[in-house]
Amino acid sequence: MFMHFKQTVALLALSLLSFACKTSSPSEAAPLAHSFKPGAVWLDNRGVAINAHGGGILEFGGTYYWFGEHKIEGKEGNFAHVGVHVYSSKDLYNWKDEGIALAVSKDPQSEITAGCILERPKVIYNARTKKFVMWFHLEFKGNGYKTARSGVAVADQPTGPYQFVHSLRPNAGHLPAGLQEDEDPKTQIYRRDLAVGQMARDMTLFVDDDGIAYHIYASEENKTLQIARLTDDYQRHSGQYVRTFINRSMEAPAICKREGKYYLIASGCTGWKPNAARSAVADNILGPWKELGNPTVGINPQTGLGPEKTFGGQSTYILPVAGRPDAFIAMFDIWRPENAIDGRYVWLPVSFANGEFKVEWQDEWDLTRFSK
Ligand code: GAL
Repeated sequence: MFMHFKQTVALLALSLLSFACKTSSPSEAAPLAHSFKPGAVWLDNRGVAINAHGGGILEFGGTYYWFGEHKIEGKEGNFAHVGVHVYSSKDLYNWKDEGIALAVSKDPQSEITAGCILERPKVIYNARTKKFVMWFHLEFKGNGYKTARSGVAVADQPTGPYQFVHSLRPNAGHLPAGLQEDEDPKTQIYRRDLAVGQMARDMTLFVDDDGIAYHIYASEENKTLQIARLTDDYQRHSGQYVRTFINRSMEAPAICKREGKYYLIASGCTGWKPNAARSAVADNILGPWKELGNPTVGINPQTGLGPEKTFGGQSTYILPVAGRPDAFIAMFDIWRPENAIDGRYVWLPVSFANGEFKVEWQDEWDLTRFSK
């Protein structure tokens, strides 16, 4: 009887301890994930929903770093009040909160003052300077989407802290390379912007096998994508750039390279509302690009939306899985502009089977898919 009482007390103490641990140690809050569940709430190591929208991934030293817009609740969450959030992972399913990589500034004079628009951050590593270089779409506070600039920040560590370097309009004073297909003066926005630099909104970065980095961005009032070579330190534009998908109004560009060919996924131009994805292929990143049509297949049962609306999402990045030359993950955002923090992530495997370029909906999947 006495033993029984002791055992009961011990058991009670143990369960109290485990309760205390569960509530005080956030790392126990999230069970380990072994799969991707596109569109579902995705918890970090502390059991908090991952807050990294319009994001991109850098793989460095065997660790993946996920950078994205930190959003707050409500419509105000469509403005940058915190900065760029970074998470790290070894397996791509489980993400550790590494905090704010680039914080917006409290200084009202700063170009990245709180309340500006800071979107689609991407980070690349410069082996020559040993710096991590972040680029993002920047709209000055109180100016709507009229600013159309790009911001640059650098850090010595992948997780930061990143220091804001400057903002710029691409390639001021430089004309694009190649033949221009639209010599109607009304549509020559790139000529209008020659002196001040080209407009740059939705964007991504791509580092090629030879270490040359490119900035790919929606330009010319979002009508035409431009692809610009960066300087060797990755912090400016080199003056060399092309205009692609002229007057096709493509946004949300994401690029990968497989077997020497470059593939692009992008969206149409309908703000936060989803539209049909586009895709294209090229032998040279500077073109010519050949459109391949909508790469998406299937229906997202959560939204009831399929290819006509990209499952309810918009592209943001194509992630090459390290060490697997044929494994690429297409990343999309499902935006929730009424409550921006509740935006969701859709990660799906890219398939190159039968010479196609496809992204098929999956309710749940894991990396073993790429071994097939
Ligand atoms: C989208 C764009 C987003 C954001 C939004 C604002 O088209 O991809 O990054 O800028 O418009 O309406």
